[in-house]
Amino acid sequence: MYDLARSLLFKLDPEVSHELSLELLGATGRLGLSGLFPNVPESKPVDVMGLRFPNAIGLAAGLDKNADAFEALGAIGFGFVEVGTVTPKGQSGNPKPRLFRLPEHNAIINRMGFNNKGVDHLVSRVKKHRYKGILGINIGKNLTTSVEDAAQDYLTCLQEVIPYADYITANISSPNTPGLRSLQFGESLAELISPLIEAKNRYFDEYGKQVPLAVKIAPDMTDDEIKLVADTLVEQKVDGIIATNTTLSREAVKGHRYEAEAGGLSGAPVREQSTHVVRVLSEYLKDELPVIGVGGIENGKDAVEKLEAGAKLVQVYSGFIYRGPELIREAITSTDAYLRETRR
Ligand SMILES: Cc1cc2nc3c(=O)[nH]c(=O)nc-3n(C[C@H](O)[C@H](O)[C@H](O)COP(=O)(O)O)c2cc1C
Repeated sequence: MYDLARSLLFKLDPEVSHELSLELLGATGRLGLSGLFPNVPESKPVDVMGLRFPNAIGLAAGLDKNADAFEALGAIGFGFVEVGTVTPKGQSGNPKPRLFRLPEHNAIINRMGFNNKGVDHLVSRVKKHRYKGILGINIGKNLTTSVEDAAQDYLTCLQEVIPYADYITANISSPNTPGLRSLQFGESLAELISPLIEAKNRYFDEYGKQVPLAVKIAPDMTDDEIKLVADTLVEQKVDGIIATNTTLSREAVKGHRYEAEAGGLSGAPVREQSTHVVRVLSEYLKDELPVIGVGGIENGKDAVEKLEAGAKLVQVYSGFIYRGPELIREAITSTDAYLRETRR
């Protein structure tokens, strides 16, 4: 079924087909028709960051930026859906074209630039919902906000979404917002994260609800840089690390006609690099902080590979575009079997 839909959707401009798919999914959710999707495989729940995930497979941020379709996406089987990246004010993102498919590599290059309708719209969508899985909300900064003032944008978003989020992710690793990745290092990282931790602790004191904060990092770092980031995140007492975002590297797609397009590369070409980051983090952190692995998962085996490298949960994006719901079912079955075998 998805093969047929895909062959039609892939004939369209990538962004048009993206919007059309989300419209259809959103309508399915709003009309309460999500029950039409085939049954989701059984899975043992997975406990991470103090939350109980129905299974280990999540949808990575960026597909449902405005939380317009997360209920239907949840019904496809995702144990968790991360909506966003959302910014305080709505913004249109980079000029089009800004999304490129590289089917020869099962890959995508994007330079969307946080196009989204703003945090008020997202809040209006997540206020009431029927989704029973875990809802993550991924936050960022507006393009017009300087990197020096970024902390205020993240704080504004966190304060607005915290009543409705099961967990929040601070995205400091998109390559498409100038200077954003510099927030991953040294003092900038601590200065960005500490007000967020304070705010979520205040929220707990007032309302008794713990909302874990995860930080999403880039794959384009040396092992030493990864460890430095990890040290700061432990010091700051964040609850999890999501590894990784898209890569700036074009090594794996050399010679492709889109090689020179600016933006982040995702899908199969980023898999090894992401798994490497997961492994370095997991070995370095032991069990101090859970790692959520994302990047290039195309089948059940790739999902298990991330768990073997130390991830507690995984997320998918590009693989879902190429393979559809079948990937989710396969990944749930494989990771559930692996987790039962290893009694994790
Ligand atoms: C079109 C597109 C848009 C994305 N937008 C975001 C985003 O807004 N925020 C974010 O944290 N990650 C974003 N990502 C990165 C994905 O969440 C994921 O980390 C990355 O694509 C690697 O996973 P994959 O190989 O399974 O796609 C985006 C990826 C793509 C392909």
